[in-house]
Amino acid sequence: MRIQYDETAGIFRLDTEKTSYIIGLADEKRFIGHVYYGKRISDTDVGYLMRTNESPFVPSQNNRDRSSFFDAFPMEYPGSNTGDFRESALEVLDAGGHEAVELSYRRHRIFAGKPALPGLPATFGVDTSDGEKECLTLEILAEDACIGLEATLRYSIFADVDAVVRSVSLRNVSQESIFLTKVMSASVDMDQEDYKMLTLQGSWARERHLDFRQIGYGKQSVGSVRGESSHQEHPFLALVSENATQEQGEVYGFHFVYSGNFLAQVEKTQFDSLRVQIGIHPKNFRWKLGPGECFDAPEAVLVYSSQGLGGMSRSLHDLYRNHLIRSPYKDKKRPILINNWEATYFDFDTEKLLAIAREAKKAGIEMLVMDDGWFGDRNDDNTSLGDWTVNEKKLPGGLKYLVDQVNQIGLKFGIWFEPEMISPQSRLYREHPDWAIAIEGRVPCRSRNQYVLDLTRPEVVEYVWQAVSAVLGSANIEYVKWDMNRQLTDPGSLFLGRENQGELSHRYVLAVYELQERLTREFPELLLENCSGGGARFDPGMLYYSPQIWCSDDTDAVERLSIQEGTALLYPLSTMGAHVSDCPNHAVGRVTPFVTRGHVALAGTFGYELDITKLSGEDRALIPEQVAMYHKYNDLIRNGDYYRIASCRSNHLWDCWEVVAKDKGEALVTCVQVLGRPNYHSRRIRLSGLKPDLRYRNEETGEVLYGDTLMNAGILIPGMWGDFQSRLIHLTAVEADESK
Ligand code: DGJ
Repeated sequence: MRIQYDETAGIFRLDTEKTSYIIGLADEKRFIGHVYYGKRISDTDVGYLMRTNESPFVPSQNNRDRSSFFDAFPMEYPGSNTGDFRESALEVLDAGGHEAVELSYRRHRIFAGKPALPGLPATFGVDTSDGEKECLTLEILAEDACIGLEATLRYSIFADVDAVVRSVSLRNVSQESIFLTKVMSASVDMDQEDYKMLTLQGSWARERHLDFRQIGYGKQSVGSVRGESSHQEHPFLALVSENATQEQGEVYGFHFVYSGNFLAQVEKTQFDSLRVQIGIHPKNFRWKLGPGECFDAPEAVLVYSSQGLGGMSRSLHDLYRNHLIRSPYKDKKRPILINNWEATYFDFDTEKLLAIAREAKKAGIEMLVMDDGWFGDRNDDNTSLGDWTVNEKKLPGGLKYLVDQVNQIGLKFGIWFEPEMISPQSRLYREHPDWAIAIEGRVPCRSRNQYVLDLTRPEVVEYVWQAVSAVLGSANIEYVKWDMNRQLTDPGSLFLGRENQGELSHRYVLAVYELQERLTREFPELLLENCSGGGARFDPGMLYYSPQIWCSDDTDAVERLSIQEGTALLYPLSTMGAHVSDCPNHAVGRVTPFVTRGHVALAGTFGYELDITKLSGEDRALIPEQVAMYHKYNDLIRNGDYYRIASCRSNHLWDCWEVVAKDKGEALVTCVQVLGRPNYHSRRIRLSGLKPDLRYRNEETGEVLYGDTLMNAGILIPGMWGDFQSRLIHLTAVEADESK
């Protein structure tokens, strides 16, 4: 890892172990250009890639055709309305009512470490045992002297991961307010090399499915204006070379460490170049920056892989495990939980929960989580959000009594909250109707019969904090599921002034971060799981606060294969909230074997979402085996390298993934036959990521084979002909003398 500046050539280069990111200063060091990002290269003076010697010349030599320069130069952070007609990264409305902005290089600094982003989640460096910083940062200061706006373009790289993280801070150095109307966190110009675009798409109960498309001229994008990262589209985009596979080909991944509105876009230009951008969605965004004030845009993560999609996944997994997740649980096995949502929905009381806890304990489960319905008058989803007092009709003796009983049974206790919401039918709304997000004079849109709290109001944030912390302080609660079950509409605040209404969505997200920061600081041992109507807020921003996020309300083992494939494309398996539920499945009605449900949930945090007291004896008897399986494999699954072997999304038949220990000493393969194939012999699979000259024993068959045999010739998996059958194959490296 190194960051260098070549003064003569005006070139900055950032090298990770396998990649180089190169920025150049052009035209007497005025323009900041993007030179190269990709596989690591040896030369530094590659500024020729900016094509400033070709026509069109730089403005100092050819001011007559300045516009031609602006329309083609690979800008590192393009402004707007001064000649570059491609998509801008930065847009403003200045005090004179004009919308032009153009940044020029001023100075830079390179230093060890990485500053935190105030109020925002972001990756961090970790000091090594010898006190060395594990990361380096380049800050380039640029300025639009005409309007008095300074921009700090920030780039950090890490010793142990091939990733470049970027952020942008803007400071108003003028005497008047400037409105920021668009601030992208990253913009990368590159030559078109026949890439496809990969994004993740979905809906409630089918989040994050992979979606490939050809890149055409003009702009193609995904985004969210729903106030959260959303079920529908994901703050991620990748350029994938035409021939790329899981383990070969080039992939450029762009991921956004943010939990609100986003835009991720590719523009293909008249010269066949591409401009890729990711950042806060400009829709509904207008930030008033007063004199002297600073705005920090959230962080963007860039990953280049020459080893296909799998290479990108493994870099992101390592980055998030080592440099984003902070929870004390991140390196620990999570308690196996049983959640009562699909077991009881709103229909529960202390006795019912204790009956579940008793049976769960017998089966080896370690924590009971009480989901929605324990507070106010909440017997369905029409009331009481905001009234965070225990419903003693359901829980006589209160929360403490219940938690003590659960602890006595030998289980930990966890609880559900939806802190950001307010039901129109609640004491809170009767007392504070102005606390809901709404546009004055317009009846706001209801969703699940609820409104969203206006978290731009400090007293609302304080109320939420007091309510949540009072409950957590009242009993031995060791886990919180923080849910959010609707998206933002009617973006208006009865608190913010008219010039600040365009700040609502971002301020809302900042307030969620503030609350979760406080929660993790004041209750440092708490295990926090984020959730949003399933997986609508599964994003890197949330991972900064919670080491796991509920993947989806769809717990069907088959649908989960695609959801978890898409999620694991970007996120470590340790973060994917995954539970075994009862059948027929509540989301899709499908019946799958209990064993298969266990194997699929094993790829995530693992837990149960069913009424164990009503489960068939046969299925219940399998739980202790699954619990043992979790304890046996979870260290490997949490810490290992992930390889995708087959995807039922594309082959419509079977799914397969593998986790290999970092030291290559162990591997676990999970194989699921989705559609049965009559008259079909054993399936042959070729493994990945093993050490070629190491011998591995297949625990099931006792067979010992070299890693190169397992990866090239493969192994045969018999009996994979029935619908929804699944198998685990565990391989352990054999010591040299043992293998003779
Ligand atoms: C949505 C979550 O995803 C579910 O698991 C459950 O907690 C419900 N909300 C409760 O309302």
